[in-house]
Amino acid sequence: MAATLLFLSTLLSTLVASSAFSERETLIQFKNSIVDPTKALSDWSNTTSIHHCSWTGVSCTNPFLVSSINLQSLNLSGEISSSLCNLVNLTHLNLADNFFNQPIPLHLSECVSLVTLNLSNNLIWGTLPDQISQFKKMEFLDFSRNHVEGKIPDSIGSLHHLKVLNFGSNLLSGEISPGVFGNFTELVVLDLSHNPFLVSEIPADFGKLSKLEQLLLQSSGFYGEIPGFFNGLKSLKILDLSQNNLTGSLPRIELLLSSSPRNLVSFDVSQNKLSGPFPNGVCESKSLVHLSLHTNFFNGSISNEFIVKCTNLEKFEVQNNGFSGKFPSWLWSLPKIKLIRGENNRFTGEIPDSISEAAQLEHVQIDNNSFTTKFPLGVGKLRSLYRLSASLNGLYGELPPNFCDSPVMSIIDFSHNFLSGNIPEMKNCRKLVSLSLANNRNPDLCGPGLPNSCLNDSSASKSFSFAKLTFALVFIAIAFAIFVFAFGFYMIRSYKKSRLGLWRSVFFYPLRVTEQELLMSMDEKSVRGNGGNFGRVYVVNLPSGEFVVVKKILNFSYQSSKALKNEVKTLAKIRHKNVVKIMGFCHSDDSIFMIYEYLPKGSLGDFLGKPDFDFSWSLRLKIAIGIARGLAYLHRDYLPHLLNRNLKSNNILLDADFEPKLTDFALDRIIGENTFQSIISSQSTSSCYLAPEYGHMKKATEQNDTYSFGVVLLELLTGRKAEENKSGGAPLDVVKWVRRKINITDGASRVLDPKVSSLFRQQMLDALEIALRCTSVVPEKRPSMYEVVRSLQSLEIM
Ligand SMILES: *[C@@H]1O[C@H](CO)[C@@H](O)[C@H](O)[C@H]1NC(C)=O
Ligand SMILES: *[C@@H]1O[C@H](CO)[C@@H](O)[C@H](O)[C@H]1NC(C)=O
Ligand SMILES: *[C@@H]1O[C@H](CO)[C@@H](O)[C@H](O)[C@H]1NC(C)=O
Ligand SMILES: *[C@@H]1O[C@H](CO)[C@@H](O)[C@H](O)[C@H]1NC(C)=O
Ligand SMILES: *[C@@H]1O[C@H](CO)[C@@H](O)[C@H](O)[C@H]1NC(C)=O
Ligand SMILES: *[C@@H]1O[C@H](CO)[C@@H](O)[C@H](O)[C@H]1NC(C)=O
Ligand SMILES: *[C@@H]1O[C@H](CO)[C@@H](O)[C@H](O)[C@H]1NC(C)=O
Ligand SMILES: *[C@@H]1O[C@H](CO)[C@@H](O)[C@H](O)[C@H]1NC(C)=O
Ligand SMILES: *[C@@H]1O[C@H](CO)[C@@H](O)[C@H](O)[C@H]1NC(C)=O
Repeated sequence: MAATLLFLSTLLSTLVASSAFSERETLIQFKNSIVDPTKALSDWSNTTSIHHCSWTGVSCTNPFLVSSINLQSLNLSGEISSSLCNLVNLTHLNLADNFFNQPIPLHLSECVSLVTLNLSNNLIWGTLPDQISQFKKMEFLDFSRNHVEGKIPDSIGSLHHLKVLNFGSNLLSGEISPGVFGNFTELVVLDLSHNPFLVSEIPADFGKLSKLEQLLLQSSGFYGEIPGFFNGLKSLKILDLSQNNLTGSLPRIELLLSSSPRNLVSFDVSQNKLSGPFPNGVCESKSLVHLSLHTNFFNGSISNEFIVKCTNLEKFEVQNNGFSGKFPSWLWSLPKIKLIRGENNRFTGEIPDSISEAAQLEHVQIDNNSFTTKFPLGVGKLRSLYRLSASLNGLYGELPPNFCDSPVMSIIDFSHNFLSGNIPEMKNCRKLVSLSLANNRNPDLCGPGLPNSCLNDSSASKSFSFAKLTFALVFIAIAFAIFVFAFGFYMIRSYKKSRLGLWRSVFFYPLRVTEQELLMSMDEKSVRGNGGNFGRVYVVNLPSGEFVVVKKILNFSYQSSKALKNEVKTLAKIRHKNVVKIMGFCHSDDSIFMIYEYLPKGSLGDFLGKPDFDFSWSLRLKIAIGIARGLAYLHRDYLPHLLNRNLKSNNILLDADFEPKLTDFALDRIIGENTFQSIISSQSTSSCYLAPEYGHMKKATEQNDTYSFGVVLLELLTGRKAEENKSGGAPLDVVKWVRRKINITDGASRVLDPKVSSLFRQQMLDALEIALRCTSVVPEKRPSMYEVVRSLQSLEIM
């Protein structure tokens, strides 16, 4: 008896030990097919005494059997080996955010116990094979952010247990067959967004997905009518159908929502071709935070009584439609509302003084409607309002004295209205960047530098009569193009005449020049380019014969003279081969002149803009590496760490040896974050050098710069200027252009500049891959600038 027991227990422990041994072996076998540059898996080893259940990323449910492998973000590449399926109890496999470059590892479907497979954000390519149906137990399938292409196979319909299906940001194409999705009764998240070639109707059987909380179909090719599926989508929280080709009117949602209210939080059908009335029922869902219908053909009026129920609404976007009737006045007092966009409709009505109740309001744009209203007094009480645009309406009466009391108010546009009377004193308008009152009833002309300065000018009378002049235009910063000359001359004149302007200068290099000489030499003849967004640029020949570049920036007095000096000093201390030297600066209460070294060759943008641009590949690569080094230095090596925030080919100068140098960087430190933001955001069309997240992420990041770098790299690879404006048409967005091209067969080679010898094709394709990573829509997917430098350098050696 005892002997039998002993025998049994020995047998058992041998069995256990042998299965532990084989699990360990399997893991090592898996590791052997993987390239692990950072040695993240160094503890996955035969020789270590660490139990395999404690190896990096491994966890077990029972003492030996591996149940989960999580190797996310370890920079792994190589091959995902089928040996994994020997792990009999493996349920979760997460290889997201790596560099696996292979077709979908179908053999994993043999891992019978697998429930989660996350391959998001790799370089997976090829089609979704029919055999995908073999992932029988799969609940969380995430192939997002890869290069998966082709049709979604009907066989996928047999994955009945799916809870999350994410194919977002891939290259899927074709139609989705009706009936395929109807079996996904457990599905909670369905993401087919950003698949521009997925040209399909929205299948009506999505309506069977009663547990679905997120339906994300934005930026794909969905067309036709939205099926009447809201009845069935009983758990829906987030609906995003924006940027498709949808037509027809919205299915009725109101009855349904009022009979079974759900937790709808976000409803976005913007940028389609939808028509018909406003979906009055959406506010039956009290939880609605974001409602966007903009840029469609909706018409009719928006009922106030429905809007009043939207107590949690933060964003309301109905611009660019055919709405008419009275603008729903409740919107102006919703407690959480931040954004109201209604421009380019035919709304009537007024903005009530009770707007002060919308205490969170940040941004209002209602231009080009038929509002007939006085300027609402309540605006002065709003603490977060930074933009108020109501041009092309019927605004009348005088501006109240508190019209820009909001401490962050930056942009006011009341042009093309019927305002009259006096412009009040503007001493509170400290953050104002643009005030436009053009084409009003009795216009006047005032602004800094003009005879009637609107800003805190003690010599001028406290207020001006509108009747004085017949034109009104008040621009405080943006409209340089219109009056910067007047301003410039005025500054010089006032200096000469009265010495009222008190100039202070700091030179970091021995510049033998007085402020006066500098000012005198900045005339129309010395202007170079249009100077970009932040100010005009002059090339000045100093009395010593030396040339310098002077950039004139309006002084928004966001910081004291001392603080300003410290900021500029911080920038001026940078010594790097790929960053332009700051020679000095001078400033008055109104202006800051930044003095930079002069590089006679001009900017990379100048070269790219020429039809005969024909730099060799090695020169292009050298320039790209130089720019990347300059950025990497600003980001990580220089203290304090700096962001460029304004990288574009026009801001990359070339020295005599074509070594690139960054200029115009970190201007936010000089003019202040708010002004910087408003100048960027007030550009008429947003620059294609700006990362797509720029609009909604308040915080600037290294990844924003990486994106801009990617755009410049694409310019170098394609030989095309990013913002090229061919024959007055819409500017070319080089990122979109390239992405569109490379999705066709052999397209990647076709985007490359044909002027470069085909000998360098592979190198260029490798660089293209880097550029595409840098311009990834997802900021986290973009490499650091150090990584970019390394990758580009490795091409140089090849
Ligand atoms: C690990 O050890 C086993 C047994 O000691 C051996 O058979 C196997 O080859 C080793 N594997 C590696 C990768 O060294
Ligand atoms: C992956 O690579 C990037 C850049 O090369 C690096 O910043 C990051 O730290 C690496 N990740 C790991 C886990 O080593
Ligand atoms: C392995 O997983 C299966 C199903 O998940 C389970 O029934 C079994 O008990 C597990 N085996 C061990 C040894 O944990
Ligand atoms: C897959 O990994 C990504 C990256 O971490 C993560 O955002 C995503 O939520 C994961 N997907 C699933 C289905 O868990
Ligand atoms: C849906 O499920 C039913 C019953 O299990 C099955 O007969 C049908 O083929 C499934 N549909 C799809 C598209 O897989
Ligand atoms: C919409 O359809 C038109 C033509 O039918 C096509 O040119 C366009 O690319 C489509 N837009 C989207 C976003 O799919
Ligand atoms: C909305 O437009 C449709 C046709 O596009 C028209 O029949 C209908 O009368 C319009 N409704 C309103 C309220 O203007
Ligand atoms: C004003 O809106 C109408 C549509 O309501 C549009 O056709 C027109 O172009 C807009 N005007 C401007 C200046 O944007
Ligand atoms: C505005 O004027 C006051 C008094 O005239 C002066 O103290 C203040 O410095 C001026 N501010 C600016 C920005 O010019």
